[in-house]
Amino acid sequence: STTVSVLVPAAGQGTRLGRGPKAFVRVGGRTLLEWVLEAFAWADEVRVALPPEAEPPAAPANVRFLEGGEERQESVARLLQGARGDVVLVHDAARPFVVPAVVDRLLQAVAAGGAAVPVVPVPDTLIEPEEGRYGPALDRGRYALVQTPQAFFRELLAEAHQLARARGLLATDEAQLVRALGYPVELVPGDRRMFKVTFPEDLALAEALARTWDR
Ligand code: CTP
Ligand code: MG
Repeated sequence: STTVSVLVPAAGQGTRLGRGPKAFVRVGGRTLLEWVLEAFAWADEVRVALPPEAEPPAAPANVRFLEGGEERQESVARLLQGARGDVVLVHDAARPFVVPAVVDRLLQAVAAGGAAVPVVPVPDTLIEPEEGRYGPALDRGRYALVQTPQAFFRELLAEAHQLARARGLLATDEAQLVRALGYPVELVPGDRRMFKVTFPEDLALAEALARTWDR
């Protein structure tokens, strides 16, 4: 049957959060990385990219650690080297709350199309500021916010990363690279609880969610 490798970029410095390397920031008594490793205990393998100076933490037997790169994309490229699953799920360590129903949707959609990502609607009015002043409003209904995990046939993602390297493309997620290769990427409904812990205010929301999270 289909095997799954989970690739976890966790090598960021967490500059915007301002609490040191983000994967080791605690929420509800555990690190963001620990939340993610627990969520993917079922996977055939979990490969984690850590900051160069980081000490690998104690982890379940399905977890391997390696050193990340300067950019998130480079961290994922390194994780992909040596990954063995038929399908890879790329998931930010900065998203501690993995909703199983979304993972189910992704695995269904990737089996059919080779690439699938979760999206959520844009809640606010969306504008393009002009020199600090109110600029044109975009039709927010036409846009979506992209989350992780992102699911791909491993060989497709490897090809996309090769193309990115050859063309010097740098993207904030894998789906952009797969799309650049000319492959369609399916969208599935995401979940707002899978938000990325990015700014200090996000920690209060994460702490509140952690208290009621059903593990
Ligand atoms: N990441 C990574 N390697 C990098 C940069 C980022 O593995 N060179 C990871 C982060 O650890 C995080 C995910 O990519 O899990 C999303 O990145 P982001 O939210 O930007 O985290 P940081 O880069 O740590 O934060 P900041 O940009 O505020 O420094
Ligand atoms: Mg970053």
